[in-house]
Amino acid sequence: MSALTLALSKGRILDETLPLLAAAGVVPVEDPEASRKLILPTSHPDVRVVVVRAADVPTYVQYGAADAGVAGKDVLLEHGGDGLYQPLDLGIGRCRMVVATRRTFDWNGTVQRGGRVRVATKYVRIAREHFARKAMHVDVVKLYGSMELAPLVGLADVIVDLVSTGNTLRANDLVAVEDIMPISSRLIVNPGALKIKRATMQPLVDALRRSTQATS
Ligand code: PRP
Repeated sequence: MSALTLALSKGRILDETLPLLAAAGVVPVEDPEASRKLILPTSHPDVRVVVVRAADVPTYVQYGAADAGVAGKDVLLEHGGDGLYQPLDLGIGRCRMVVATRRTFDWNGTVQRGGRVRVATKYVRIAREHFARKAMHVDVVKLYGSMELAPLVGLADVIVDLVSTGNTLRANDLVAVEDIMPISSRLIVNPGALKIKRATMQPLVDALRRSTQATS
């Protein structure tokens, strides 16, 4: 059987991914969160894990450097999804993509006036498409994190960001003014790998589907 390489990223999604993988018989030999190693064997003789940045997971899988991976819908939409199968919504990493702004900012008035809006976000593509659908003219400022700061210091009028508990918005006196879409994490698969390594890949996809259904 040909060995499979699975791309995972550290952080919140990993905490929810590991139990699903364990139920599918794949347990990394070291904790990926704690280890400095980037390639980890697993309890499954034909599966190894590579640890990459969340935004890089689709790229590794697209180019076949990893055969499969776990990535948030946010990351997949920003990547574009070219050259990727998305066979399974794992139902983990659930949150929402929203437009948020200062509590005191007159969002509805600004929209009605057709005023030009400056948007700060890590999710440039999602933001552009959202406002294009509303036929709103926006200037997008690309950031790499801590988007919540931008409206507080005058860098932007609004942000497009993920909200999970809402604690970060509340702590910074921001409010969500538009809901863009629900987000969850998906299993992504390289189409070539699915063909060539089906004997190993298909049982893993099936096992993940079962463990996803069992926990949902
Ligand atoms: C995400 C998001 C918000 C926060 C929302 O950031 O960008 O800042 O979580 O979560 P909450 O609603 O539960 O407070 P993350 O911690 O993933 O880091 P990031 O800034 O690198 O995206």
